[in-house]
Amino acid sequence: MIPSAERTPERWPAGPEAAPLLHGVYLASPGYFHQLGSEPPALADVARELEAAARDPRRRIELLYWGVEVAGVLDYKLDHPAPGEAAISLVLVAEPYRGRGIGRAAVTALEAELAPKVRRLYAVVYGKNPGAERFFTALGYRFWKNGGPALKWFAKPL
Ligand SMILES: CC(C)(COP(=O)(O)OP(=O)(O)OC[C@H]1O[C@@H](n2cnc3c(N)ncnc32)[C@H](O)[C@@H]1OP(=O)(O)O)[C@@H](O)C(=O)NCCC(=O)NCCS
Repeated sequence: MIPSAERTPERWPAGPEAAPLLHGVYLASPGYFHQLGSEPPALADVARELEAAARDPRRRIELLYWGVEVAGVLDYKLDHPAPGEAAISLVLVAEPYRGRGIGRAAVTALEAELAPKVRRLYAVVYGKNPGAERFFTALGYRFWKNGGPALKWFAKPL
């Protein structure tokens, strides 16, 4: 068996048909939604979210496959907040898959893919989420600005 640190999740674009898979990731991440003071969204809401994303040419939602299992999601936007930049609005690894390097490997792969055209990648952290802040800090992101009382932007030059 390959040690988990040497494995990388595969990133697959999630169109509207992937709503049940993304919903499954959300259902397996109750702690994240609890931290935001909410519950995982209903399947119909996830489908609407994916339909809206499909209409936005700059938005990308990707499922993270760990072998044949869907282990997480990566949601980001190109040319945002400015042309030549990009912003991660969510990297979510379902609770059973945490701590195996999946989040790090997914973001690192995205950085490498964007680096030729994107000069800076941002990460947006909602609510009080010290684990997410430590995650992005471990990946070389630094606090950039507050985007409001419940929103922090981190940034990394690529
Ligand atoms: C943040 C998250 C994506 C990390 O995913 P993961 O696959 O478990 O993280 P990794 O195993 O790749 O860890 C990468 C690094 O981040 C650190 N890290 C990850 N989660 C952490 C946490 N909760 N607290 C402190 N450090 C953490 C790890 O220690 C590791 O550092 P190291 O490589 O120097 O040892 C995952 O905890 C998650 O989905 N959280 C809920 C959603 C969220 O808050 N997303 C971020 C805001 S958009």
